[in-house]
Amino acid sequence: MFVVVTSYAQQSETEQKAVLVTGASSGIGLKITEELSAKGYFVYAGARKQADLDRLNTMDNVQAIKLDVNNWSEINAAVDIVKKEGRGLYGLVNNAGVAIFSPLIEVKEEDLDFIFNVNIYGPYRITKAFAPLIIESKGRITTISSISGILAGRFFGPYSMSKHAMEAFTDALAVEMEKFDVQVSAIEPGNYNSKIVESLVKRMKSKDISFENSLYKEEFESLITSYGADRSRYKDPKEVADAVEKALFSSNPKRRYMVVPNENEANWTITQILREMVQLNENQAYKYNREELIKKLDKILAETE
Ligand SMILES: NC(=O)c1ccc[n+]([C@@H]2O[C@H](COP(=O)([O-])OP(=O)(O)OC[C@H]3O[C@@H](n4cnc5c(N)ncnc54)[C@H](OP(=O)(O)O)[C@@H]3O)[C@@H](O)[C@H]2O)c1
Repeated sequence: MFVVVTSYAQQSETEQKAVLVTGASSGIGLKITEELSAKGYFVYAGARKQADLDRLNTMDNVQAIKLDVNNWSEINAAVDIVKKEGRGLYGLVNNAGVAIFSPLIEVKEEDLDFIFNVNIYGPYRITKAFAPLIIESKGRITTISSISGILAGRFFGPYSMSKHAMEAFTDALAVEMEKFDVQVSAIEPGNYNSKIVESLVKRMKSKDISFENSLYKEEFESLITSYGADRSRYKDPKEVADAVEKALFSSNPKRRYMVVPNENEANWTITQILREMVQLNENQAYKYNREELIKKLDKILAETE
């Protein structure tokens, strides 16, 4: 018998599901682009710099699109390009993101504006602009949040605030999109290799941001030394990209995909969620006792099985 083996990548364009990934030039966004395109999905890869656009355009199943998530004219132009291509849009991955490290009592408003603009308003703008296409295809929206969407620690305040916002964004959007059969998820990665700290350090240098006169000078220096701009000691983010594929294409996607490289990071995150539950419950007018809490936990566990 003659059997034709067709890989996903060889499927005709009309069969390919298309996905837009923002911030595809490096790190997690690039890995998502590489993984999805290699599996035969069509990826519109958003990037800002011409060299990155050129590099992405050399990949099979990838079309690079100039896309700064802060720039409405680029966003509108990107929507027009995707519409003209005629593939529709099945998946949206809000990945573009930045970080700053700063104590909350010293952070400048312009630095908060910088991070919130990319990490919060970015997904808001992109989701709003592409929602009609996603609704048309009864597709999926996923946002790269972080375990910092649950955790918050010294100097991570602005970043954690932005990722906590993405947790709320995901839950509210998920309910609002139910009536259109669009499913919404968040991915909560732990620490993976990327350029996020390199970009942060570059921005600090270019803006002359220093903590010489900070009340936290010593703690800040030890954070920068322990963290370092080079994240090559961290794992490659392939497992994050795998979770994105599940969020976009599995028949029953989860609301949240926490993906961490070691047990410590899982432990911090889950313990924090449980601690918050205990803190909310303690000394309040309608306090649940231990047995009632366990019953509630069992009920939620049963619902998610
Ligand atoms: N790496 C981790 O351990 C980790 C953990 C949890 C969550 N995350 C999240 O993962 C996402 C990706 O970060 P990453 O770690 O992969 O860092 P990365 O390598 O620095 O990638 C960030 C991407 O966002 C892009 N970007 C920044 N500002 C943008 C803007 N205004 N418009 C469009 N794109 C913009 C960057 O483009 P340029 O190259 O043009 O700057 C780059 O493509 C972020 O949302 C981050 O918060 C990362």
